[in-house]
Amino acid sequence: SHSINLAVIPGDGIGQEVVSQGLKVLSAVLPQDVKLETKEFDFGAKRYHATGETLTDADLDALKQHDAILLGAIGDPSVPSGVLERGFLLKLRFAFDHHVNLRPSRLLPGVATPLAGQPVIDFVVVREGTEGPYTGNGGTIRKGTEHEVATEVSVNTAFGVERVVRDAFARAQARPRKKLTLVHKNNVLTFAGHLWTNIFDKVAQEYPEVTTDYLHVDAATIFLVTDPARFDVIVTDNLFGDIITDLAAAVSGGIGVAASGNINPSGDFPSMFEPVHGSAPDIAGQGKADPTATVLSVALLLRHLGHESEAVRIEEAVAADLAERGTTPRTTEEIGDALAVRVAS
Ligand code: IPM
Ligand code: MN
Repeated sequence: SHSINLAVIPGDGIGQEVVSQGLKVLSAVLPQDVKLETKEFDFGAKRYHATGETLTDADLDALKQHDAILLGAIGDPSVPSGVLERGFLLKLRFAFDHHVNLRPSRLLPGVATPLAGQPVIDFVVVREGTEGPYTGNGGTIRKGTEHEVATEVSVNTAFGVERVVRDAFARAQARPRKKLTLVHKNNVLTFAGHLWTNIFDKVAQEYPEVTTDYLHVDAATIFLVTDPARFDVIVTDNLFGDIITDLAAAVSGGIGVAASGNINPSGDFPSMFEPVHGSAPDIAGQGKADPTATVLSVALLLRHLGHESEAVRIEEAVAADLAERGTTPRTTEEIGDALAVRVAS
């Protein structure tokens, strides 16, 4: 495609700062003949306070007109917990059917990890994005009493599980090691766990070259710390994926470098790319935020839109920048400038 029509949502806190650098690197990496058009949207805490709106149907219609969405961060301590999460982030994932939540983890040379002995970490988590305990199915009875009962129902459909499992098998097949690990808790969650396991085993028949493996989620957290090299592609449920990808980020350079894509592989709706980190209000506006995670999210965005060589150029620029990163702290803008120079040359 020779044009990219991008919706940009800087959001709250450090979102604006990191997104500016992401766009700078994006402009620098694109060849002359690819036209980049961006439209900025003002979602987040400010808009919520001013209008009470988080994400309206008209907003969704406007976003839908784009090839992809780049998001900085949404969230502010002035907004009650859950309002922007449910009203914006999850609403967008559900409305645009972002069922593949892609979260790669690579420990790049020169990057500090709390793990001993600089292990090899190069895996990708395919987190289901539209089901599980995130659907908002649940309720409270006898609220506020000592006998309050709250339920949070995990919804798992054969359709939803199969499509994400298929996506993960295809990704594993395309990687050199061709290994896929299902992470669940089928010894306790016997209904959802068995659905996942049965579908996983069924689809595995179609991928004889892919080595498969199963781990309970608790055991997976152990191996993510003691033997992360064993992982290549992981497929898992929405909540398990939320938790293990924070752990994965922590061992592979921290949330300063963790990128993600909320992907609708069919292309019926635009996919959304964002750093895994939040809005970090404590350091907002100080030029201290590391834009690397956003820049790597731009690489995922480009790959999704078919601009593979530009995606690789960004990833190589980030790897080179991290390898040469000294101990002197750089500003958000300095890191963005350095990456822009590297991808352009
Ligand atoms: C994430 C976040 C979100 C999630 C929250 C903010 C809704 O933690 O993207 O990982 O739980 O998915
Ligand atoms: Mn999370």
